[in-house]
Amino acid sequence: MSVQVHPFAAGCGADISGVDIREPLVPADRDAIRKAWLDNLVLRFRVQPMTDAQHMEFTRQFGELEFNPAKLIEKQYGIETQTAGRKSEIPPEISVISNIVEDGKAIGGLGDGEAFWHTDSSFVDVPPAASLLRSLECPPPSAGGSTYFLNCYSAYDALPEATRKRIDGLTMIHAATHSSGGRAHKGFEKVDDLSKVPGARQPMVRIHPETGKKSLFLGRRINAYAVGLPVAESEELLDELWTHMVQKRFTWRQDWQVGDLVWWDNRCAMHRRDAFDGSMRRLMHRTQLRGTRPV
Ligand code: SIN
Repeated sequence: MSVQVHPFAAGCGADISGVDIREPLVPADRDAIRKAWLDNLVLRFRVQPMTDAQHMEFTRQFGELEFNPAKLIEKQYGIETQTAGRKSEIPPEISVISNIVEDGKAIGGLGDGEAFWHTDSSFVDVPPAASLLRSLECPPPSAGGSTYFLNCYSAYDALPEATRKRIDGLTMIHAATHSSGGRAHKGFEKVDDLSKVPGARQPMVRIHPETGKKSLFLGRRINAYAVGLPVAESEELLDELWTHMVQKRFTWRQDWQVGDLVWWDNRCAMHRRDAFDGSMRRLMHRTQLRGTRPV
């Protein structure tokens, strides 16, 4: 076995070296990578530029590929979120995240703005288990665009006992109304009553299907609602949980280099991204692994 795992001192994450992930993995390496991923929540493979086909092949060795979230939201809510300039040759399993505009049309999502803390696609009933994001073009870290990851196991474990007891068994609505950049999807611009917001009903505390560990599972803050509570009480509880959860001690920051691939466990890690200098190009491709219904 050649895989080496170098955990970061931060709240989560590890670098993986000693393996070329553009080639099919031998079983021992595949198992070591999978274990490292479950242990560390986020893995980084530094500077291994690859094609979309290699990216999908690497992902497939760990489960079933999921379609990009635009397809998921279209399927569950019947709304179109696909970016107009998406290139037809890009396979449907690849999401494009980019600020690049060609012929007046954005080729990918999220532009150059901040993306707020979120879990990918938790607004659909069965969110992806994992996301694997690779950098094709990126500005230097001094121009912004770093991505941060958050350990939701540690955030749960560090809650006061009384809060853990209060939230165990609560259900939340993870609103389907906005992108992680805060932009309202078409037809979801206005919410009059948070308790009726469209979105998936998810457990506030989730048990990981593989590790059996509990984590906070809050999705995204915008238009979230704790089912059964008066709206004001839900807002107060969610504000308290979010303030606790996004503490720096639970996080790790990725400063991108071209060719990096970062793979996070979407069931127990959240992420956000800094805004960046919009005069520079940033192009990321992402695959996802199919998940199971959160419990
Ligand atoms: C995302 O929120 O999935 C994108 C993160 C990034 O652009 O770094």
